Amino acid sequence: MPISALKEQYEAYPYPSRDPAEEAKRLVTGTPSSLEEVEHYLFAGQLPKRTLRLLSAGGGTGDAIIQMAQEAKDKGLEVELTHLDLSSASQTIAKARAQARGLTINFVQDSLLNAPNYGLFDYIDCCGVLHHLDVPEDGLKALEQALAPDGGMGIMVYAPLGRTGVYTLQAALRRLIPADTAPAEKVKIARKLLAELPATNWFKRNPFMNDHNVSDAGLYDLLLHSQDRAYDVPQFVAFMASAGLEVVEFVEPIKYDPATWIKHPDLLSRLPADRLARYALAEELSGSFFKHIAYVTRSGRGTTIAALTPESVPYFHYFDGTAIGKKLTPGQNLTGQLAGLNVNFALPRRAGAILQRVDGSRSWRAIHADLSTSLGRDAPAWETFWDEDVADLYAKLNGINVLLLKKPTI
Ligand SMILES: C[S@@+](CC[C@H](N)C(=O)[O-])C[C@H]1O[C@@H](n2cnc3c(N)ncnc32)[C@H](O)[C@@H]1O
Repeated sequence: MPISALKEQYEAYPYPSRDPAEEAKRLVTGTPSSLEEVEHYLFAGQLPKRTLRLLSAGGGTGDAIIQMAQEAKDKGLEVELTHLDLSSASQTIAKARAQARGLTINFVQDSLLNAPNYGLFDYIDCCGVLHHLDVPEDGLKALEQALAPDGGMGIMVYAPLGRTGVYTLQAALRRLIPADTAPAEKVKIARKLLAELPATNWFKRNPFMNDHNVSDAGLYDLLLHSQDRAYDVPQFVAFMASAGLEVVEFVEPIKYDPATWIKHPDLLSRLPADRLARYALAEELSGSFFKHIAYVTRSGRGTTIAALTPESVPYFHYFDGTAIGKKLTPGQNLTGQLAGLNVNFALPRRAGAILQRVDGSRSWRAIHADLSTSLGRDAPAWETFWDEDVADLYAKLNGINVLLLKKPTI
């Protein structure tokens, strides 16, 4: 699709649909647009001590840039923020949102193919954009060229299995609606078709897709987009490699662990040794992933994830773990929804007591010391605390992206 057609779509339907008046009521938050995650996944638990240059590439109506700007303001971080998008209608909304919050953002109306003209950036957020480009590899390469030497990116692209039925319905709509039909008319016709779809239709049977129920912009983006593609894990990895990038981690990590979806010991003994092959298997097993969110860096940089060490400092990420810790009884499981399923995770017996001591300033070692003071003889030995309690609790809560790590401040 020519870039002009893509621009036309997002001029008619800025995405996602947002009302700047809502800024007074709530901050829209999400992944990969949080500086806390950027610090954890890309800067080993400590953001560089310099003015951070942050780019939202194809930033749309502003969710990512507003979240990053607000977090930086709240944490007193020095940042320079750039919102780059083709669509002036989207930028008008993003600007009004920034104004409502008193945030300073540099708005550039241009293609992300020109991102290097505005770089270098410490972090580039590119959420739901690359899969719409004519040649996604060209877009990714441009972003890589705009990246600072130690910078990283957060990328979201669609995944195929959870979008089952979307592409056939897009094709059906293309057969029914001439390409030159006005966008609003296309939406009307699409709504007529949605109302009549037979129960056997795969889109109708897909429980994961909801955008079309939220707004016309959502419907357009999901079903009338003339250009989008989806990537499974191996395709995503190859896509990143095409620009000399590699996956640091997919979020939420626990979704990418096959042991989340299957339990039989014989099956678990057969899991592939290679990490990315296990991730690919988890996607095939779950069947529900409709997008991938991953943090990526230039290949060969080694791990940039904050290390789980006794001196690292755990903190809750958009999660009231203290309140949950107070309510948890020993042996109680954590329940919730993960990738379309109700899940039930066993937690270590002392999870509640540990969670109540996570405050964003105590290290694991300090949490253990505090636990020992309060529990006396009932306190776990350090080895038990570390090898059993912390290992398990961290795998689960970091796995669902609610517990992150910082390096200690010296
Ligand atoms: C699906 S929206 C995603 C918006 C935002 N990233 C989010 O997740 O909320 C895609 C956005 O990418 C923009 N876009 C598409 N191709 C682009 C390009 N080549 N350069 C810059 N922006 C582009 C569109 O204008 C649109 O605002």
